[in-house]
Amino acid sequence: MRMLLRNGTVVNADRAAQEDVLIENGKIISVAPEIHEDADTVLDAAGKLLFPGFIDTHTHFDLDLGVTVTADDFRTGTAAAVLGGTTTVLDFCTQDRGMTMQQALNLWKHKAQDSSCNYGFHLAVSEWNPEREAEIESMIRQGVTSFKMYMVYDNMRVDDGSIYRALKQTGMRDCIVGVHCENYDVLNERIRELHAAGIMGPEGHPASRPNAVEAEGVARLMRIAELAGMPAWVVHLSTREGLEEARRARNRGQEVYLETCPQYLILDQERYRDPDGEKFIMSPPLRSGEDREALLSALALGEIDFIGTDHCSFTMEQKALGRGDFAKVPNGGAGVQNRAELVYTYAVRTGRITPMQMAALLSERAARIFGMYPDKGRIGAGSDADIAVLDPSAAGIISWKTNAHACDNSPFEGIPVSGRVTDVILNGVHVVSDGKLTQPGCGRFVFRRPSERPRRTE
Ligand code: URP
Ligand code: ZN
Repeated sequence: MRMLLRNGTVVNADRAAQEDVLIENGKIISVAPEIHEDADTVLDAAGKLLFPGFIDTHTHFDLDLGVTVTADDFRTGTAAAVLGGTTTVLDFCTQDRGMTMQQALNLWKHKAQDSSCNYGFHLAVSEWNPEREAEIESMIRQGVTSFKMYMVYDNMRVDDGSIYRALKQTGMRDCIVGVHCENYDVLNERIRELHAAGIMGPEGHPASRPNAVEAEGVARLMRIAELAGMPAWVVHLSTREGLEEARRARNRGQEVYLETCPQYLILDQERYRDPDGEKFIMSPPLRSGEDREALLSALALGEIDFIGTDHCSFTMEQKALGRGDFAKVPNGGAGVQNRAELVYTYAVRTGRITPMQMAALLSERAARIFGMYPDKGRIGAGSDADIAVLDPSAAGIISWKTNAHACDNSPFEGIPVSGRVTDVILNGVHVVSDGKLTQPGCGRFVFRRPSERPRRTE
């Protein structure tokens, strides 16, 4: 089966041009100004932008927090993802204490089997010891080449020595470890102080985790990575101060990768005062205009490597588990469907970044860092036929009611967007047509190589 995408503008990280794209057997076989070959189907993409299928570097589907399980599983989460132009999610396959990495991977592969977009896994580890270390090679052989550690959450947090050892053991194999950077002890002290002062509502959440809580975690990770002599990757960076710590490390010659999320570029911490403020409880919390400005400038300067969503959705009923105590609200929000339209509207249209930078931030850079390039991350002959078609003239308003995720709220509710994904090609199949998921369940596991480490300094 051959498919021809005609008259669109192909936007890669290094080049944008009006070109046709010919696809056969799940691969792109030609990209050229005018292709006159026969095809079984033709999609006229005049006036539209063709991006390499977007890669979401940060999702939590079917995650069991103990008190409750995320509203979205892989079936609903990946349906929402692909409708937003995301053709690959990298989800956090979570090794709970007492489990092996292999057990976690088996479980996550089982959870993900009905996915509507491609999927790979970062292995999120809750303990680091010789048994876990002995599993690294086996994970690499199975296409899992990135890991995650948390400085917070009672059931997941690891100590600094564990981070140091994990960075060494994975880094020497060109794998990277993403770290959730916050100072656990201090934020818990602050929660106690806030409770003692009678502050129990959602506004207590950002007060318990001010910018310095993240910046201290980032600074500590930078020094641990320096001592280990290995790369560092900060997940969901949200503050100007955290960014400055990462810059300092880079200025010392360190190899640092940075991820941020749309919520830290667009939403304001004042939202915690809304009547449904619980829905914005996520960690790190929403920040101020100064932080957003710092992150947007960093995007433009190429200092941020990729934008993930940290999609970790809970219904309002689940959020109400913490009504009356902000510290008990399940952490996380929905966003997997809206990343491209938000970045296009609030970073490209506003002139902060170019469409090519958007291709880098939402696809190419992640493909390189997570061992998928050039199969993924570019529209070029020989690459996988994963393509997101964005119509810059399509406008709308984000609402959970029209999103496909299984959650009755969205932190982006009511936000206008200008530029929406209309069509998606996944593994050569036209799975989203005119904004509708016509072919669900076409996702495949993505076997990844070790990292290309594009910021390698040695
Ligand atoms: O609040 C959040 N971000 N929940 C998801 C887990 C994490 O910290 O990434
Ligand atoms: Zn996190």
